[in-house]
Amino acid sequence: MNSRNRTALVTGASSGIGTEIARELARRGYGVTLVARREDRLRELADELEATGVRAEVLATDLVDPASRAQLPQRVADLGLEVSILVNNAGFSTTGPVSESDVSAELRMIELNVAAVADLCSRFLPAMVERGGGAVLNVASTAAFQPLPYQSGYGASKAFVLSYTHALRGELRGTGVTATTLCPGPVKTEFAEAAGLGETENSTPDFLWETADAVARAGVRGMLEGRAKVIPGPINRITATLGNIAPRSILVPVIARSHPAKPKDT
Ligand SMILES: NC(=O)c1ccc[n+]([C@@H]2O[C@H](COP(=O)([O-])OP(=O)(O)OC[C@H]3O[C@@H](n4cnc5c(N)ncnc54)[C@H](OP(=O)(O)O)[C@@H]3O)[C@@H](O)[C@H]2O)c1
Repeated sequence: MNSRNRTALVTGASSGIGTEIARELARRGYGVTLVARREDRLRELADELEATGVRAEVLATDLVDPASRAQLPQRVADLGLEVSILVNNAGFSTTGPVSESDVSAELRMIELNVAAVADLCSRFLPAMVERGGGAVLNVASTAAFQPLPYQSGYGASKAFVLSYTHALRGELRGTGVTATTLCPGPVKTEFAEAAGLGETENSTPDFLWETADAVARAGVRGMLEGRAKVIPGPINRITATLGNIAPRSILVPVIARSHPAKPKDT
């Protein structure tokens, strides 16, 4: 899969888990195409990866914008490349009660975490299936396994990614193309700050944290092994299982009471 005209397209490669996924793919010899909005960061990463001998391209793109997403296949083709690995990693979370939410921020999150994932799968999968090989790695979260009051839209968006990717996997059976969901628990990146949860990072116990590079290594390995889903870290695997099976009538009020984005006066 790692010939010179094949590329692994990684969204959200300018920071955190996406940067580390790009590094891990390059370390394994895959050429990468880096997608996010902050072009300077992508260029810096591309220079670093090219110095290791792989081809690294930069396609600065706002994935919230459907028209920009639609241009991606042609921009990749113009570079003389075909996408053999698609990593849908870009994402963010809003926080707080829906009753006090900023409508446009909620819809931007759904556009990025849900619509962009489906959009890029629809655009890049046909050629992979036609060639009879390829892999998709969609980044969800342990938030996918249970409803998440005060991150309601985020949890639901990641449940979409988990369900969608699992179904996709069923459709792709026998095509030579695989689909894997990566479900990280807490990872120290720019994510918490962007979600307005920066101050709560210190209250999350140390044993729950995984590093971005460990998460990326586990995700890429799982994808290359064709696994259905990867939950990095033994504690996260336990909480995900509990979240999946616990009765909603008990779990949801517990989460609602303890979530750090719960307004102080409620
Ligand atoms: N960190 C965690 O605790 C955690 C846990 C579970 C799951 N996750 C998931 O892991 C993924 C990566 O998150 P992270 O922790 O690495 O967060 P991060 O450090 O904040 O990185 C987010 C990435 O998404 C990109 N992005 C945001 N808006 C975009 C847009 N409109 N168009 C294109 N790219 C955009 C950002 O790039 P630009 O700003 O340059 O566009 C950045 O590269 C997300 O899907 C997140 O939901 C994170």
